[in-house]
Amino acid sequence: MTVKTPRAYWKPLAIGAPEPLREVPVKVERMIHFIPPHNEKVRAKVPELIRQVDVILGNLEDAIPADAKLAAREGFVEMVAANDFGDTGVWTRINCLNSPWMLDDVMTIMEKVGHKLDVIMLPKVEGPWDIHYLDQLLAQLEARHGITKPVMIHAILETAEGVKNVEAIATASPRMHGMSLGPADLAASRGMKTTRVGGGHPDYAVLADAGEGGPRTAYQQDLWHYTVGKMVDACLAAGIKPFYGPFGDFSDGAACEAQFRNAFLMGCVGAWSLHPSQVETAKRVFSPDAREVAFAKRILDAMPDGTGAVMIDGKMQDDATWKQAKVIWDLACQVAKRDPSKAAEYGIG
Ligand code: GLV
Ligand code: MG
Repeated sequence: MTVKTPRAYWKPLAIGAPEPLREVPVKVERMIHFIPPHNEKVRAKVPELIRQVDVILGNLEDAIPADAKLAAREGFVEMVAANDFGDTGVWTRINCLNSPWMLDDVMTIMEKVGHKLDVIMLPKVEGPWDIHYLDQLLAQLEARHGITKPVMIHAILETAEGVKNVEAIATASPRMHGMSLGPADLAASRGMKTTRVGGGHPDYAVLADAGEGGPRTAYQQDLWHYTVGKMVDACLAAGIKPFYGPFGDFSDGAACEAQFRNAFLMGCVGAWSLHPSQVETAKRVFSPDAREVAFAKRILDAMPDGTGAVMIDGKMQDDATWKQAKVIWDLACQVAKRDPSKAAEYGIG
């Protein structure tokens, strides 16, 4: 595929649009909290939510009925205009590119509240061409409305073609913030035989050896392992952030937590919360464990310049484990800044 030259890659795409960001801003985004912005009662709770979640996302796409699409768009504009979000992220999920709503979603939101918007989540991204289109449009609208901080793009990875093109999507533009796995649409697109929104399936299992004829245990496997791994590599190679997406069974908190934790351990930085109970789950999972943080600090302290080899509690440490420790410690410091209860747990103040 033809790619832009390095100099062209970093140029604004419209005269008067802001310079693209060189790095994704350092922000704790443990949960992207979805709300239906056409619902007045939900909008009334936004001031409270701002203090509880890392990111508030006004959803305009799936789950919003066709006859409420305009009300959701207007509700989102009203909600963003009416509140001071401080450090809490302000995102929207717009309708997909071939829908009758997408163009007006972008035009209206950029005009009315583009200066307060951090990220646009774009669903059903198939390839870099989808990112290029939105990238150009956003630059034109930033220029037109005098928006000085670039609005970033977050892609949902939820089609077979999107997964095939995940690396090209990750590097399509300096406007890329990250990506979320969309297990519902992706299952449909791939012809996977599950009706669940994320999580495992009892029939996706490995059977223990027949052995001597005793009972054979079936070990359930993670249906999403392959896709999460592919997404994490594409994102980290491109310097952008990977997220697990939705978990649909609100009655099964333990399974939600297990799915989020697998994603966290594999490299994801957050997940979606679709229900208030999932906010606490995401906070617990996507903040590093206090014991891990304490151990990471011991490694860093034992190797001040990050080289050589030392033994701690019988475990070998070297330049590579120093880097692993640094990942955990840096995340703990970021989380501690945002979340006083975690700062106390980690003893970082
Ligand atoms: C999310 O949008 C999904 O399809 O899972
Ligand atoms: Mg979807």
